[in-house]
Amino acid sequence: MFDVLLADLAGPGWHVAPGFLTPEEIDALHDDAQARQAAGAFHAAGVGKGSAQVRGEIRGDHVFWIDESQAAPPLRAVLERLETLRQAVNQALFLGLFDVELHYAVYPPGAGYQRHLDRFRDDDRRTLTVILYLNPPDWGEEDGGQLLFWPNPDVAPQVIAPLGGTLVTFLSERFWHEVTPARRDRVSLTGWFRRR
Ligand code: OGA
Ligand code: MN
Repeated sequence: MFDVLLADLAGPGWHVAPGFLTPEEIDALHDDAQARQAAGAFHAAGVGKGSAQVRGEIRGDHVFWIDESQAAPPLRAVLERLETLRQAVNQALFLGLFDVELHYAVYPPGAGYQRHLDRFRDDDRRTLTVILYLNPPDWGEEDGGQLLFWPNPDVAPQVIAPLGGTLVTFLSERFWHEVTPARRDRVSLTGWFRRR
């Protein structure tokens, strides 16, 4: 089921899978994120371990950490698929992925996330990054919010559009990446499979 994805992770270490979510799932999760935000459950994301410091010039998104026990059915279904993915990656690549931490992220217009790596200096548990875009089907190139992704830090980045339903996954410690500012709210479900 994840053959190409697993081969890419074993080879280059990253993979983009359009259509990982159905249109209904994109819609349901987008609405779920918006409802949480309307209820005031999001907070400005920080940088560094424990998200200690809010620095909007580095990253301007707002996040809501997922509590699996509170997840509505559509989100639960997606979490189950990610659990299947975790097991498949462990079987194929022996990464020892143990758990996952996930948040919804909303980048308001004009917000981005400067070029960075996902692994903290003082905590090396984050091993595999997963990003699922939840943007509506009318998201266009002019809306921005691209993911710039450097397979090799010395050459031009790949430009990945944050189209609803697309999964981007990569080895967390290896790849520099950046989020360019968007013109409208840019919504995603993002997380990290961790080692013990
Ligand atoms: C992150 C991140 C990229 C994206 O949250 O660490 O790099 O495309 N997100 O949302
Ligand atoms: Mn990142």
